Amino acid sequence: MDYLQIKGKEKLNGSIKISGAKNAALPLLASTILSKNRISIKNVPNVRDINTLLKLLSNLGSNYTFKNNVLDIDSTAISSTMANYEIVKTMRASILTLGPLLSTYGHCEVSLPGGCAIGQRPIDLHLKALELMGADIEIKQGYVVARAKNGLRGATIIFDKITVTGSENIIMAAALAKGKTRMVNVAKEPEVVQLCEVLQKAGVKMDGIGTDELVINGTDREKLDMKDFSVIPDRIEAGTYLCAGAITNSEITIKSIIPEHLEAIFMKLEEMGFSLEIKEDSVTLKPAKKIRACDIITSEYPGFPTDMQAQFMALMTQAEGVSMVEERLFENRFMHVSELQRMGASIMLRGNSATIQGKIKLYGADVMATDLRASSALILAGLVAEGVTKVHRIYHLDRGYENLEKKFQDIGGDIIRLKE
Ligand code: UD1
Repeated sequence: MDYLQIKGKEKLNGSIKISGAKNAALPLLASTILSKNRISIKNVPNVRDINTLLKLLSNLGSNYTFKNNVLDIDSTAISSTMANYEIVKTMRASILTLGPLLSTYGHCEVSLPGGCAIGQRPIDLHLKALELMGADIEIKQGYVVARAKNGLRGATIIFDKITVTGSENIIMAAALAKGKTRMVNVAKEPEVVQLCEVLQKAGVKMDGIGTDELVINGTDREKLDMKDFSVIPDRIEAGTYLCAGAITNSEITIKSIIPEHLEAIFMKLEEMGFSLEIKEDSVTLKPAKKIRACDIITSEYPGFPTDMQAQFMALMTQAEGVSMVEERLFENRFMHVSELQRMGASIMLRGNSATIQGKIKLYGADVMATDLRASSALILAGLVAEGVTKVHRIYHLDRGYENLEKKFQDIGGDIIRLKE
């Protein structure tokens, strides 16, 4: 197994180009099941989660080539509608095949995703919505067995909670359903918006894109004429590198971004004393005279993303004063805390809140990655720690960060990948 070795205390400088968004690419890849033609998708990040979904799609019967971040994919000849446990257990987002398989083929079996390091993460809202659209759903031997013999039909769905992949699943289901689906309290994340825009360009009539109420006119199982497109930039990857600049109080530039998607992150960095030079598709972070403490409450977009919570917590250890983080989306998303404490951080946990006392000197240590974003927080801490930090179990990082150590090296980070 690989691990990352980080030598701390180096200033960073230079620029980084951000990759395509994993969380946008995943539903978009699943949506190719709805297509009647082969599609070329640009800016697809070459990360493990994407390769896992490609493996699943290939098991179902898709053909593809994936080179230099360009994916040519043909999902027109699906021969199986069963997403098996072996793949789904390694990546929860495999559940994104449920909506498109069911709406296109009228039946499918998708394994339940099972446990997850950041809490229970149920899919009850996905299933309830599909039932409202006429699906018969049973849970058998760990699988969601879904049937809609005569296809799905439009319905009004009011989500009890905002769910990103739940919204995406139902958008894909509604695209091929019969009649109108009204989705209320739907997710507005940029990744959801891109899915809608791609489906709209493929001929699906949609109103309310980017708002919390969507109306989708389904094609009654007529497959879509999908066009080529490029995946939006990864706002979480961009935010992570901005935090790397911030924690080392260095000037760095992040390129190929959509600044509008990063507003909540920009606001917090400015509150902490950094200045930002925002251009059309890039941002330069300038050092702070003094890094100030701040408070964060995670929420759905456009609020502060839960996927940036761990990285900001690492940054808060270097801010003057007491910072607070309240995690509103996932229980148990504080796995990075004990590892940061092992590096010397002073963090107190109570329920879903953490109090971080800064500024504290961190020391290099052997630490364990526990989930994707928690792992990047440990790298950030390693950048300012005295001595050497070894981050183990980095397969979590490889799920979502493309060319991670190369990108850090390009801005002067002393990071190398080694074998255990
Ligand atoms: C997606 C993102 C993940 C991000 C999260 C929140 C992908 C592949 N993953 O995950 O990186 O951290 O959004 O922004 O895009 N819930 C239910 N029942 C359901 C579904 C969700 O109770 O059926 C709850 C969850 O437990 C959680 C909340 O709703 O408390 C939000 O979860 P959700 O938006 O569904 O997260 P994911 O789509 O899994």
